[in-house]
Amino acid sequence: MSSININNKIIIPSENGDSILRSALRNFIGIPYECNSGGCGACKVDLIYGEVKNTYPDSVSISDRDRRKNRVLACQSIPLGDVEIGVEFAEIEGGLYRPGKCTGVLMEKEYISTEVVEFSFSLKNDVKYMPGQYFMISIPGVGERAYSVSSPDSDDGVIKFIVKKMNFGKFSSYLFNDFNVNDNIILDGPYGHAYFLENERDIVCIAGGAGLSPIVSIVRRMEKSRSDNNLYFFYGVNQIDEINSDYISNLLKGIPASRCDFIPAITSRQEDWQGEVGYIHEVVSRCLEDFSDKEFYFCGPPVMTSAVQKLLMIEKSVPYERMHFDRFF
Ligand code: FES
Repeated sequence: MSSININNKIIIPSENGDSILRSALRNFIGIPYECNSGGCGACKVDLIYGEVKNTYPDSVSISDRDRRKNRVLACQSIPLGDVEIGVEFAEIEGGLYRPGKCTGVLMEKEYISTEVVEFSFSLKNDVKYMPGQYFMISIPGVGERAYSVSSPDSDDGVIKFIVKKMNFGKFSSYLFNDFNVNDNIILDGPYGHAYFLENERDIVCIAGGAGLSPIVSIVRRMEKSRSDNNLYFFYGVNQIDEINSDYISNLLKGIPASRCDFIPAITSRQEDWQGEVGYIHEVVSRCLEDFSDKEFYFCGPPVMTSAVQKLLMIEKSVPYERMHFDRFF
């Protein structure tokens, strides 16, 4: 078995064709990361010694300058023997579960809209995660994708994911069209930092398009733990028919109306729509009166998460530690 030497201080085993990142996280070593998919660039490390297999050589997250300096993406680098890396450690936060692999069996597909489905899997192994985290889902011969959970926990042996069908997306097309009840998937996780922290602050959840899943997970956990925090739930989509009112009503039924504000928005005006119009960061800026002493959770396309981050940090002076998001590309 080969090994990964980190900063010449810690040596961990490198097993099963895992990337440097996954090996580190399985050993509770907190290398910085977000997407786990080669898209965000957060996991760059210095490759000081040894060779790796680069599983995403075309990633735009690594520049020519990085390559000249022998910098690699830890999430896309599989050691081909002993390696040594240099990295600035992230703090390891409490409550994070060690990522591992398990099998899920499809129980049900629930259509939220024609393009969005919630998949429910029964778990063959015990899996723990925090609301809002994500798993790498793989199907042999099809590929692997990161999907955020929509269930609050796995206490009942079930894990759920809300998936939006992506145009030209091979993986989501397979899930929508060719994946059937009793079919198996491999889950690897949990991953991600944008998980729910239970404290006394008001909760602001902002979901854009396909980013609904982790927000649903957090809302379900609030309901399950009988949280008495106030909830502001912003949901931005392009078309009215992407908002399933019955699904949202059912989701929010356990939270008293006096403590819950649901603010849906569409990006441009359409007939029969009386609600908010505009990009979701604009709607948040317009509708949320007080940005102080709140925890912000947001998920959606990169352009949306960047706009929300900019709004909160620059315009509203929200401290970074109150913003919870993972960037996916
Ligand atoms: Fe590696 Fe995003 S590129 S975590």
